[in-house]
Amino acid sequence: MADSPLTWWRRQSLRFRLTVAASAVLAFALAMSASVLLSVLTKTLTDSSDETIRTRAQAVRVMADAGTIPRPLTTDDGTMIQVLDRTGRITHATPGTDRLVPLLDAGHRARALRDGEPRYTRGGLRVIAVAADGGQTVLAARSVREMQKSLHAAGKVLLAGTPVLTIVLAAASWVIIGRTLRPITALRRGATEITHTARSRRLPVPQSRDEVHSLATTLNDMLARLEEAEERQRALVSDAAHELRSPLASIRLQLEVALGHPEGQDWKETAEGVLEDTLRLSRLAEDLLALARLDERGGVPARREPVELHEVVRRTAERHPMVAVTACEPALVRGDELDLGRVLTNLLDNAVRHAASRVEVALTADGTLTVTDDGPGIPPEDRERVFNRFTRLDEGRGRDQGGAGLGLAIVRETVLAHGGTVRLEDADPGLRAVVRLPVLGR
Ligand SMILES: Nc1ncnc2c1ncn2[C@@H]1O[C@H](COP(=O)(O)OP(=O)(O)O)[C@@H](O)[C@H]1O
Ligand SMILES: [Mg+2]
Repeated sequence: MADSPLTWWRRQSLRFRLTVAASAVLAFALAMSASVLLSVLTKTLTDSSDETIRTRAQAVRVMADAGTIPRPLTTDDGTMIQVLDRTGRITHATPGTDRLVPLLDAGHRARALRDGEPRYTRGGLRVIAVAADGGQTVLAARSVREMQKSLHAAGKVLLAGTPVLTIVLAAASWVIIGRTLRPITALRRGATEITHTARSRRLPVPQSRDEVHSLATTLNDMLARLEEAEERQRALVSDAAHELRSPLASIRLQLEVALGHPEGQDWKETAEGVLEDTLRLSRLAEDLLALARLDERGGVPARREPVELHEVVRRTAERHPMVAVTACEPALVRGDELDLGRVLTNLLDNAVRHAASRVEVALTADGTLTVTDDGPGIPPEDRERVFNRFTRLDEGRGRDQGGAGLGLAIVRETVLAHGGTVRLEDADPGLRAVVRLPVLGR
């Protein structure tokens, strides 16, 4: 099946295409300059020859006007001169010039006298006619053969030189472009190795500080980020599996014990235990799902709608009998209502779980939301760490206590996605979580 020329062209290597394109442009430029050179040369040579015959003719005209034309009339540069009287008869001529037939016949002479321009004539001559007083005409001429010979020679040199120069330049381009593309080939090889062999490889970075260098470093940065993301993903999977194991083991144990000794078994108690573990599992699944969604969106909220934060606070706080709302000023933020609700729920869950007697929630109009409890608090050195995924401080707690250590991670990532900040403070006694969100209309 025959390809169209365009398809064929696109299929060629970059090196080939660049070389061909560069050579084509070069060949065109060279041909153009050769032709310009030739025409300028022709014009210059003609002009200078015209200038000579004009000067000679004028000089003889002055002598003719004064009646002092020498005999014999001579020139030292090979210019032929004829002086004609009013009848057209030749009165003077330089040696070697026709003494009987004028260089221009009467008709041409008249025209040449009128426009004063030099013209070509038979025998490869360039002739100018100048009128002298008393009806005389001075004709001055030079052969253009020599000039044409030089022009032919120059033309031949250019005609042969242009293709040779083009070929030389094309070869040079081929070599230079090959050199330039070599680091790209190295990049490609490096990429092949990365896909085929171990991960954690980097692409070869060329020494030169050029575009290929920055491409290589950018790609390496990207590889590093991908590796980091993959690493995080792997850690998440293994942490999640780890978290799944204990409730599943607990369910299995309870069921095995119950089935192993069915007599005298309190099935209700077993069912309650299993239910508790199941709830723990489903909470974990919810949290993992929330984190997966946050990762998927890459730092932006799912929705960007105006949310009445005070309404969210009122509704969420109502569900916890221990929680007192000390301030609830209207605050409008942009984002996802469900996600923002989860932020408050997670903070309240922690506070209620740790509080001794009381949890306070306050929202001010500048978008600052605080959740304060009077529990044991968190030591300053751990207040940043607890925001990491799967980080729990009270490892030894009972199994009905809290979750898998994802609550604060979800809080931080959601708040960041909404353009806000969250930190933990000492409430003396207890802990205060401070969330700041950018409010609308301020
Ligand atoms: N209000 C609080 N008072 C004391 N410690 C807290 C409080 N909130 C969170 N923490 C600590 O931070 C850890 C991480 O919290 P979180 O991410 O919500 O995970 P989880 O609630 O699943 O344990 C908790 O395990 C707990 O040790
Ligand atoms: Mg929690």
